[in-house]
Amino acid sequence: MRPIFGEKRRNVKRAVEFIEESLRFEPNVLVLPELFNTGYAFSSREEAYRLSESLENGETIEALRRTSEDTDICIVAGYCEMDENRLYNSAVVVENGRIIGNYRKIHLFYREKLVFTPGDRGFEVFDVKGVKIGVMICFDWRFPESVRTLSLMRADVICHPTNLVHPYCQTAMLGSAVQNNVYIVTANRVGREREFIFTGRSQIVSPKMEILATSPPDVEEVKVIEADLETARDKRVTAYNHLFEDRRPEFYKILCEG
Ligand code: ACM
Repeated sequence: MRPIFGEKRRNVKRAVEFIEESLRFEPNVLVLPELFNTGYAFSSREEAYRLSESLENGETIEALRRTSEDTDICIVAGYCEMDENRLYNSAVVVENGRIIGNYRKIHLFYREKLVFTPGDRGFEVFDVKGVKIGVMICFDWRFPESVRTLSLMRADVICHPTNLVHPYCQTAMLGSAVQNNVYIVTANRVGREREFIFTGRSQIVSPKMEILATSPPDVEEVKVIEADLETARDKRVTAYNHLFEDRRPEFYKILCEG
């Protein structure tokens, strides 16, 4: 998507158009970018506050709930969440008119630290019609612990709303996918805001490092693929190797030190 900064209603309308456009492919799950409704480059906390909404009463969340009910599509979407005067860079998961999840970005990037409170609830995996959906947001990718944690929690598909400005993530996700035997859906945005030029190239990668879908760096579009969940669930590597059972956590203790 190419959100227009501050034009929430317009951005939500555009997203709903995309979701409706995808209906002919009968998707189960669609992923929208990080902060898809507001845009990214807040000049101050006050500006972000004005564009934020609560999980329970927000007009964006309400529109997404309605759309998920009308279309029978589970939607994962980034938005600016306000809760008790704190702001979070969050992603909501809505299915059939209901909120089934809300993830708050744990690793904040650059000046996001001046606006948002880091996520306080950890990673979670949500069940969507038998599919295990894990959520991380943009810069979370730079910490391999994010994909690892979600994969150990048995996510089949990692939904990854992004506003990427560096060129590394799309290639890196190929490694993350094979290292964790998981699908990763990176839904990026295009366009520019203030000093940021977003890199587009949204993609879906398979546990076998196949790029199942990819988009140009500067074009809005919606793409749908079919995922074989058994591929993600079978963590055997060879007759003698299993991706999770062969782990040696006693030698990884440094990973859990602060
Ligand atoms: C980012 O986390 N939006 C780069």
